[in-house]
Amino acid sequence: MAIQNYPCIRTRLPGPNAIQYLEKEKKFISPSSTKSYPLVIKSAKGMVVTDVDDNTFLDFTSGVAVCNTGHNHDQIVASISSQANTLIHMSGADFYNPLQIQLAEKLSAICPGSGVKRTFFGNSGAEAVETAFKLARYHTKRSIVIAFYNAFHGRTMGALSLTASKLNQRKHFLPLIPEVIHIPYAYCYRCHYGLTPDKCNMACVTWIRKELFKTKVPPEDVAAIFVEVIQGEGGYVVPPKEFHKALYQLTRDYNILYVADEVQSGMGRTGRMFASEHFDIVPDIITIAKGIASGLPLSATVASEEVMDWVPGSHASTFGGNPVSCQVALATIKLLEDGLIDNAAKQGAYIMNELKRLERTYPIIGDVRGLGLMLAAEIVKDKETKEYAPEVRDSIIQRAFSKGLLLLSCGRSAIRFCPPLILSKNDADIALSIFEECLKETV
Ligand SMILES: Cc1ncc(COP(=O)(O)O)c(C=O)c1O
Repeated sequence: MAIQNYPCIRTRLPGPNAIQYLEKEKKFISPSSTKSYPLVIKSAKGMVVTDVDDNTFLDFTSGVAVCNTGHNHDQIVASISSQANTLIHMSGADFYNPLQIQLAEKLSAICPGSGVKRTFFGNSGAEAVETAFKLARYHTKRSIVIAFYNAFHGRTMGALSLTASKLNQRKHFLPLIPEVIHIPYAYCYRCHYGLTPDKCNMACVTWIRKELFKTKVPPEDVAAIFVEVIQGEGGYVVPPKEFHKALYQLTRDYNILYVADEVQSGMGRTGRMFASEHFDIVPDIITIAKGIASGLPLSATVASEEVMDWVPGSHASTFGGNPVSCQVALATIKLLEDGLIDNAAKQGAYIMNELKRLERTYPIIGDVRGLGLMLAAEIVKDKETKEYAPEVRDSIIQRAFSKGLLLLSCGRSAIRFCPPLILSKNDADIALSIFEECLKETV
């Protein structure tokens, strides 16, 4: 049995202090983001988040797949403070910065592929995607870009043009960038073509070759295919290995760039440094953000020196790659390499097994999937019909919150499990037992 002194819920939720902040938030903060539950955070350490009423929660969100090294890891705090005492900012857009160069050299070594890679530093996932979009057009001199349904690549106009995850994200923002074509992803649990992976012969890729490229889209005008190696916000959808293999081959056949968006799946989350490694893919461009700097804003767009061939003045950022974020990224990568990636693989396999057991026991779990600590359970009304059950899913997440477990949704009907990679088996057991209690109460 799990030993635990957290989570600990001492007040009604939201507590009295939280209520005061929630009222002010309504007045002063843009209402454009979706918040899952009324958690007003005071502090966090390791796996535990404390709210402004001193309730403690076990964090299975990592601040949306960001705090892979856990909250406020001692070595991260130390590197922030030592770098802040040395240099906080001198824009990389106009001056040279040793830490950017050091980090870019490290990224060249750890990103898939043996050749030298160059990095452009930004501040967010969307910026990394914008950069990749511009670079793909610049390098190929082609205009069309292919992306996938259920993809989430960010919310700035370029990134949003690639995103096709939820209507609210696009509504009233049209028109977006023209010449972005969306096609179905290999979401095998709900195959667009009604096939099964053992017999489909990768119909979703064959269709591009045999239909799209013969009727509507001249392949010679396609700059890039943007693909999340594992779809994140779209439901933690893991495609079969053959999907990426076939897609990659297609890009080789037509000189199209293969752009892997690893903003969510990268930095150790899947039990490898990058999810691409599970699929033996060497992307032409790779986008990285979220987990790269343990909570500080930083993103990286990494490409081979042949692809990243733009000239001075074509792209830049004032804040991108600031020295504190770069120093923290180097410390983060060291922690990941020194054991956290292996731990993600180990604890992820354990949780996956347990979720599979729950899938067999509870009729509302239609599918369990994931790699490492990027795991999800899809909630359905009925296993046979696979009817989406977003209200049931949301009520499970609310129940978990009221018991001190922080979870998030993904896709139309799934719950994601993306705890910090410092997760212990004890903490995994605490979370699993709370999750099972919620399932029991729901069923
Ligand atoms: C795969 C992927 N790409 C891009 C983004 C956008 O990142 P940001 O919110 O930092 O702009 C996200 C965010 O969830 C993501 O999951």
